[in-house]
Amino acid sequence: AASALAMCVVAGQAMADPAGCDGEETVIRFSHVVAASGHPKGDAAQLLADRINEQMEGTACMEVYPNSTLYDDDKVMEALLLGDVQLAAPSLSKFEAYTKKLRLYDLPFLFSSLDTANAYIGSDEAKDLLSALESEGYTGLGYIMSGLKQFSANKPLETPEDAAGLKFRVQTSDVAVAMIEALNASAQKLAFKEVYGALQTGVVDGQENSWCNIYTQKFFEVQDGITETNHQVLAYGVITSQEFLEGLDEETRSQFLKIVDETLAEANNQVAEKEGECRQSIMDAGGTIRELTPEQREAWVSTMKPVWQQFEGDIGADVIENAANTSA
Ligand code: LMR
Repeated sequence: AASALAMCVVAGQAMADPAGCDGEETVIRFSHVVAASGHPKGDAAQLLADRINEQMEGTACMEVYPNSTLYDDDKVMEALLLGDVQLAAPSLSKFEAYTKKLRLYDLPFLFSSLDTANAYIGSDEAKDLLSALESEGYTGLGYIMSGLKQFSANKPLETPEDAAGLKFRVQTSDVAVAMIEALNASAQKLAFKEVYGALQTGVVDGQENSWCNIYTQKFFEVQDGITETNHQVLAYGVITSQEFLEGLDEETRSQFLKIVDETLAEANNQVAEKEGECRQSIMDAGGTIRELTPEQREAWVSTMKPVWQQFEGDIGADVIENAANTSA
């Protein structure tokens, strides 16, 4: 890799080339929407780039574009097919336009803990689910785990009734909409980069996300507090285009896939620790975290879990049952 200040031209646009790829190397651009560091996805993307840049020097080179600086999650899907980026890792909630099978991951209270969620995404069955994207021109390379989701709002949330009448930002997921409606609240789909502003100006009253998103995006600063519901998993599908993958010579492709596999497994093992740190950082910064008693949590479960039935046809009852029975 040559100068760190080299510029490259993508789709007619000049952009900074953070890894300083040289002209001989295959450039792998990874665009994502979260913080560059201190976040399971930001850190995994950087770890992957460091390894590729070291181990594939002279053959391939990776550049990471964090924080929605290059694309939103919906635009990045098109950009992959156009060859403007080669890797992306949108949240699994954002694949609805491509496959309804991945709705599995949005079912509230599907996994009993982060460990069981991690065990499932490491399974062959989970890997098979990503193959539903093949017919759309994408290849799923694996998963990055982010953590479990928590609710926050501009008023204290202890019981599901506290959420009634509020408006929550959700990702572009009909399962999330159904789940919010089960609380007698309303849902608004918004891009991730718009969430802070929407909370601050009162366009929405609340949101649901992982500890590291709530911390790194500073959502806690514009909310009354966060309720530790652990109600849903937040994980990402690491995807590339078939065209890109098939265009690599065999040796390069297998080296690339091996590095991806090893890095994702390693990154996913560190999620619990990182999420714990983000949770602690919220408290250190003066944010309010409300823990639920088992009885209080049960009320959230019994209010939201019935939405599973609505999506059973899209996902498959056997797939749901298998995932729900995962043990860590
Ligand atoms: C969101 O939109 O809330 C998340 O998908 C963002 C992310 O990538 O963690």
